[in-house]
Amino acid sequence: MALLDKHKFIERNATLLLVGSLLVVAVGGIVEIVPLFYLENTIEKVEGMRPYSPLELAGRNIYIREGCYVCHSQMIRPFRDEVERYGHYSLAAESMYDHPFQWGSKRTGPDLARVGDRYSNDWHVQHLTEPRSVVPESVMPSYSFLKETPLQVRNVGMELVANRRVGVPYSDEMVEFAAADIAAQADPNADTSGVEGRYPKAKIGDFDGNPAALTEMDALVAYLQMLGTLVDFSTYDDAAGYR
Ligand code: HEC
Repeated sequence: MALLDKHKFIERNATLLLVGSLLVVAVGGIVEIVPLFYLENTIEKVEGMRPYSPLELAGRNIYIREGCYVCHSQMIRPFRDEVERYGHYSLAAESMYDHPFQWGSKRTGPDLARVGDRYSNDWHVQHLTEPRSVVPESVMPSYSFLKETPLQVRNVGMELVANRRVGVPYSDEMVEFAAADIAAQADPNADTSGVEGRYPKAKIGDFDGNPAALTEMDALVAYLQMLGTLVDFSTYDDAAGYR
């Protein structure tokens, strides 16, 4: 009874109740928030993630320049319908090297977070050249000019350095060999051990079907073909169990 009486005293004194409530909420807040200031990184590390190869990065720049994100998201939400259509829901780590990220919320076209390996290079080239030649009802614009536009490869190293400034772990070696790696990744006849060593699972090949030229189409298709392919989900420990 005595304890209840004391509580009655607090409840009848508005100022005291306010101060008491603030105190309780503050303790809860501090316990939740303060540890975050001491964590260097709140993203769970996931095996397989690596920075984009210079060619993929160039393709990503074209993706952003052309506004593909206006119609395509790159984030699979952890809902059953999404996971069944697109594959494993996106992990935070999968976009940790994206500056800026491409999550998006507009889906005129499908989500592209795991489009890599789903189609052949030829399919992508044909689809980007004239979407309606492979999907008759498509409203996607034609990007045929990418095949005719030589890829601008000046200052690729600087591009990597700029990304390094915002936290992408590009090594000095990656910067030094950036231009060589671009050329090697798009040339099936080149010595590709360097680029494959620096960027595990990088797709190698003549992406645009024209071995004579290094075009923006090469870069964009190289980028699309790696999307969602770095993490091996057959070995990924899925604690949340949505699948
Ligand atoms: C005006 C909206 C729009 C824009 C802009 C757009 N797309 Fe699409 N995209 C679509 C639609 C709609 C589809 C579904 C029909 C189809 O496959 O063409 C699609 C399909 C795709 C697919 C096939 C995905 C799958 O899983 O079948 C890829 C790959 C793709 N787009 C890439 C791109 C790229 C790369 C760009 C930028 C160069 C781009 N899109 C720009 C609307 C768009």
